[in-house]
Amino acid sequence: CGICGVVGHRPATPIVFEGLRRLEYRGYDSAGIATVEHGKLSRCRAAGKLDNLKHALEKTPLSGTTGIGHTRWATHGAPTTQNAHPHHAGQVTIVHNGIIENFAALKQRLETKGRSFETETDSEAVAHLLDDYIQQGLSPKDAAFATIKQLQGAYAIAMIFEGHDNLLIGARHGAPLAVGYGEGEMFLGSDSLALAPLSNQISYLEDGDWCVLTRDHVEIFDAHGDVVHRPIQTTSLTTGQIGKDGYRHFMEKELHEHPVAIGQTLQRITDSVTRRIALPPMPFDVATLPRVTITACGSAFYAGMVGRYWLEELARLPIDIDVASELRYRNPPQPNHGLALLISQSGETADTLGVLRELKAAGQHVVSVLNVEHSTMGRESDLVLGMVAGPEISVASTKAFTAQLSVLAALTIDFARQRGLIDEAKERELTDSLLDLPSHAMEVLGLFDQIRGMARVIAQARDILYLGRGICMPIAQEGALKLKEISYIHAEAYAAGELKHGPISLIDPSVPVVAIAPSTILFEKTLSNLQEARARGGRILVFTDAKGAEQLKDIAEHIIILPDVNAFVAPILYTIPVQILAYEVALLKGTDVDQPRNLAKSVTVE
Ligand code: G6P
Repeated sequence: CGICGVVGHRPATPIVFEGLRRLEYRGYDSAGIATVEHGKLSRCRAAGKLDNLKHALEKTPLSGTTGIGHTRWATHGAPTTQNAHPHHAGQVTIVHNGIIENFAALKQRLETKGRSFETETDSEAVAHLLDDYIQQGLSPKDAAFATIKQLQGAYAIAMIFEGHDNLLIGARHGAPLAVGYGEGEMFLGSDSLALAPLSNQISYLEDGDWCVLTRDHVEIFDAHGDVVHRPIQTTSLTTGQIGKDGYRHFMEKELHEHPVAIGQTLQRITDSVTRRIALPPMPFDVATLPRVTITACGSAFYAGMVGRYWLEELARLPIDIDVASELRYRNPPQPNHGLALLISQSGETADTLGVLRELKAAGQHVVSVLNVEHSTMGRESDLVLGMVAGPEISVASTKAFTAQLSVLAALTIDFARQRGLIDEAKERELTDSLLDLPSHAMEVLGLFDQIRGMARVIAQARDILYLGRGICMPIAQEGALKLKEISYIHAEAYAAGELKHGPISLIDPSVPVVAIAPSTILFEKTLSNLQEARARGGRILVFTDAKGAEQLKDIAEHIIILPDVNAFVAPILYTIPVQILAYEVALLKGTDVDQPRNLAKSVTVE
């Protein structure tokens, strides 16, 4: 979910609405805004996309210079108008992102006091609890502090109060919230993207912090109620960075930004004179590192899987890897001073953040690969390896994924060098192949039309199998995930060699098989597996290079030929057409490409 709020001197609704537009990627199943004017609270909510809220606001305009807004990704309760935020009780209105784990107990207690609840949400309990304290005679500030002390779970909350036009209170625990500083106006937002057009002076609240904002003043308190100072950071985001630039969708635009995202990311970690990878010094001795634990969610997890193949093969490091939601509760034995390597576009994903804290407590060094460096994970890591992918708005990750891979490839070279496992010639070869990638990526962007032909086959199918071997397997997984996410076609990825151990029973002419098969990576083995599929009537669609195409031409129905590249960087390059394929299928299916159903980009709940 996304939160935005303002206490100021201009009409609040347009400011908050614009903030919600920029936060819509965090959830878009319903939205709402509330304001306070001449001491009176009003609100307007609508199920569905923000445009529905826009129409509702045309019918029920909200005036006032202080307001809060919310765009929702449903956890408790269906995405109806009734369940949409802001939630109101008595003299307060609130918006909440996260999950209040003890809401049932709070609700029961408040109901016995005669309060009746209107929604199925956990969040409404916060509104009632807050109002209960107000009714007991507490000031808004004291009531807010008393309320958050009662809450268990994760939350970012913004609150406004009847009779208080010049007051906005925020609180965070486990879900992000930032304060933006203006002239005679102050803002709250889930991230700096929401605040970008409003202020580039931002303080990030820490867990347990809460803040009291008036037009001219910001006061931040910690969980004990003591005043704390959180640094004011100047952000560089500009409003211009999040337009569609003439593309139909953010996803189309972001696919076209692969070369720039890879190029900028590598530029930052390459010495411009020697053209050697130059990462910041690690806060541990790489040569004696006992083990690396990699974790992430969604696409970022598949980037981690590629990282595993690289780090095992070239840096000879033992790797444990798992999705964050599993790793968090697996409690595997940890070596002393191992490395926890986290990968996240947003730096806010609750599952990944949870593992970060677990592994840190277990004595691991924490290095994160992040696109949003000022995020919670960024602040809690020992070292951040930043990507320079720019804001990624489309829910389905594209350029952030190849930027993540670029960082992991550079890390592999750096570790292999520090562990004495590659000589200078090998290092030069690997580094050059990486630095040549942006231009090859550019070539791949010329393949949209060809890939559309392949997309026509996929768009008619109900089930798709994606196959890859070795380091191409995670790319098959990324392809299947992307297709599922945005076209709603069922797709599964398998290690090509595993096909014969089960999924081959699914193969018939109605189940296309998409293979990621550069001629340089276990090609003969993959070819045999594709022969097995073809022999059973499977329709074979392949991404390969010119050499591979020659050997596949008799069995494959569609072949997309990619530039020849070093096997080391093939997974990065092959990601691009696989993502374009999902995009083209989604276009044919007419789905909502940038905001696919049920998903959200930044999931700050477990
Ligand atoms: C959500 C998104 C995915 C994303 C994952 C991890 O589930 O829908 O597209 O890959 O979160 O996000 P992160 O910001 O941690 O990379």
